[in-house]
Amino acid sequence: MPAVVIIGGQWGDEGKGRVVDFHARYCSLIARYSAGTNAGHTVINDLGKFALHLVPAGIFYGDKTCLIGNGVVIDPDKLLKEIAMLSERGVDTSNLLISDRAHVIMPWHQVIDSADEELRGSQAIGTTGTGTGPAFHDKVSRIGIRVADLINKDKFPERLEEVLNYKNKVIEKLYDRESLNFTSILEQYSALADRLRPYVTDTTSVVQESHERGEMILLEGAQGSLLDLDSGTYPYVTSSVPASVAAGAAIGIGLGPTAIERVVGVYKAYQTRVGYGAMPTELFDENAEKLREGGGGVAGTSEYGTTTGRARRCGWFDGVLAGYTSRLNGVTSVALTRLDSLTGFSSVKICVAYELNGKRVTALPAEVNEASNLVPIYEEMPGWSEDVSSVRNINDLPREAIQYVRRIEQLVGAPIDMISVGPERDQAIVTRDIFGGNL
Ligand code: IMP
Repeated sequence: MPAVVIIGGQWGDEGKGRVVDFHARYCSLIARYSAGTNAGHTVINDLGKFALHLVPAGIFYGDKTCLIGNGVVIDPDKLLKEIAMLSERGVDTSNLLISDRAHVIMPWHQVIDSADEELRGSQAIGTTGTGTGPAFHDKVSRIGIRVADLINKDKFPERLEEVLNYKNKVIEKLYDRESLNFTSILEQYSALADRLRPYVTDTTSVVQESHERGEMILLEGAQGSLLDLDSGTYPYVTSSVPASVAAGAAIGIGLGPTAIERVVGVYKAYQTRVGYGAMPTELFDENAEKLREGGGGVAGTSEYGTTTGRARRCGWFDGVLAGYTSRLNGVTSVALTRLDSLTGFSSVKICVAYELNGKRVTALPAEVNEASNLVPIYEEMPGWSEDVSSVRNINDLPREAIQYVRRIEQLVGAPIDMISVGPERDQAIVTRDIFGGNL
């Protein structure tokens, strides 16, 4: 069986959590392969509404193995709180495994995250402030602490001392902030390590053995492709290494790229972004406000960040970017989310190209953040007023909504196999069974 990757095709917050929660039923193993506590996945199912940051959204199926892979950076305190929250609410977390190769977010990472943002001044990125970026910097700088180091009672004090000496010099001399105390970090993190240890294992072997047994593996992406370090709207991107795009999944989990045969691209039916950086179709009028408050969708589905609570910037669907990220990820199947939120707009727009210096362009310029003269070229379509939240067959959607979905499909260049029309697990139109084995 092939591994399936689920990625975000925009700037994150596309609804990957709900798509993973929906498809996880067909898989034996569900794994996160990248990013850290910065990620926020909202899942609503028969157990209630959950905000997940590190635990894979497959956790709600007690019979599946859920795994946090090598490519993730873990804040042990936040992860343990997330596990405790799930257990308290009746979710079985005994099937959760954590990679010994994953890196750990340490107290200095949050200090540096906020100090860096301050130093950037008007160029601030608008990070989540979770220390995720600096933890990835340390991984690449080879000064990171891995889960294997953290849970090794004999070696951890020595590793902590080495790294903290280095980091305290940076914090004091470069950032002019107070140094951190070795003893209190050692005590706190040793206690966290004791609680984390039962979950830790060599997840690379677990995934590889599952693949050899022919089991269906679902690799859960975090953030969106436009936040990718190599291909996104740099420098207003996230720091995950491996990348959040589908190609990073193989690296982040420990499988060869040939194991991945299908890539589900999750796209929201309009555009949102949190943090700074270019967003060509951003709206500043009453339509932005309407989208932010959930549009015509179900109450309680408004556009505020799962991790930070920040209001998301909202705009019309950007077909140029959607085509770009679809090709970037090799998307084979699209899940279009939040179509219900577009109910009640007299007309809806899709960006199909940009005008740049008097020329029509259909590619994302590398200098998109500086291109204040980049003007979206829209196709305007009639909207619809019908409530679509109980529609389960695409042919029962209003004619205008079908036209809208089909135009997006053309621009993405891959079939739309699932359309979500509400936040609940089964509020979805499935037009093709992507786990049917015949793709
Ligand atoms: P960082 O990942 O916290 O360093 O933040 C870098 C950028 O990525 C900021 O613009 C964040 O708002 C954005 N970002 C990080 N994680 C997410 C996410 O899960 N959803 C949406 N945006 C995110």
